[in-house]
Amino acid sequence: MLIETQDDVTRAVLDEMHRTPDARTKELLASLVRHLHAFIRETRLTEKEFQETIGIINAIGQKTTPSHNEAMLIAGALGVSNLVCLMNNGRKGTRPTQANNLGPFFREGAPHYENGASLLRSPTPGPKLSFKGYVKDLDGKPVAGAVVDVWHSSPVGLYENQDPAQAEMNLRGKLTTEADGSFSFQTVKPAGYPVPTDGPTGALLRAQKRHNFRPAHLHFLVHKPGYKTMASQVYDPADPRLETDSQFGVTRALIGDFVKDGDAYRFEFTFVLEPGESWRPRAPITHKVAAA
Ligand SMILES: [Fe+2]
Repeated sequence: MLIETQDDVTRAVLDEMHRTPDARTKELLASLVRHLHAFIRETRLTEKEFQETIGIINAIGQKTTPSHNEAMLIAGALGVSNLVCLMNNGRKGTRPTQANNLGPFFREGAPHYENGASLLRSPTPGPKLSFKGYVKDLDGKPVAGAVVDVWHSSPVGLYENQDPAQAEMNLRGKLTTEADGSFSFQTVKPAGYPVPTDGPTGALLRAQKRHNFRPAHLHFLVHKPGYKTMASQVYDPADPRLETDSQFGVTRALIGDFVKDGDAYRFEFTFVLEPGESWRPRAPITHKVAAA
């Protein structure tokens, strides 16, 4: 159709989509166009603001490297990652769930450890943490043979991929659940950490006068054919930023219970898997940052 005024633009774009053969692609793109155009009309977006927005989107891509995923980071900072997660888990968003954002720091290829082993691959000072997890199904039966990826930040708040001082794959590992559904490892207690602010996510947080911290947590990815793969994070109940997580990841179901035992900590947590597709999400990064 020929466009006369701004009123015609949405119709013209939607009309040109009618040949899209894939029904889901058609649905997603049509909805995106309707909402994007409605956003522009509602905010009366100016030409200058449009140019700035294009610059931000380009900068998200330009900031992304094999060791940093800026798109994943800003999706978290906008609450998009956790909304997608909570809508697709907990029986399609109707119940609380232990599923949580995969986050920007998951890497494939972590070493496989025996239960009870240490995740430390280079000296990592900090309070010791002994973790024991259980994987169960919706009926409370143990799930044996599930592969659990674990990764977390150091006690100074850096993942190994961000920190040339840590060995490759430090504080990352893969464990397999035993007949009783349990898995366990030794590590050091992670600290809350600042997310990187040298890209568009940092600009967003500064513009909104938000802090850039995440409360202390451990990441898990639980995978077994026959069950819906679950990415999860379990949070330190003592962290002061549980309600202002810069990535909106914290949910009530994921606040753990760190038990202090002398200078060390013990921590147990049970993950409940739902039936569903056992897919492996694509790792948002592939490499460790190069030493300077
Ligand atoms: Fe994290």
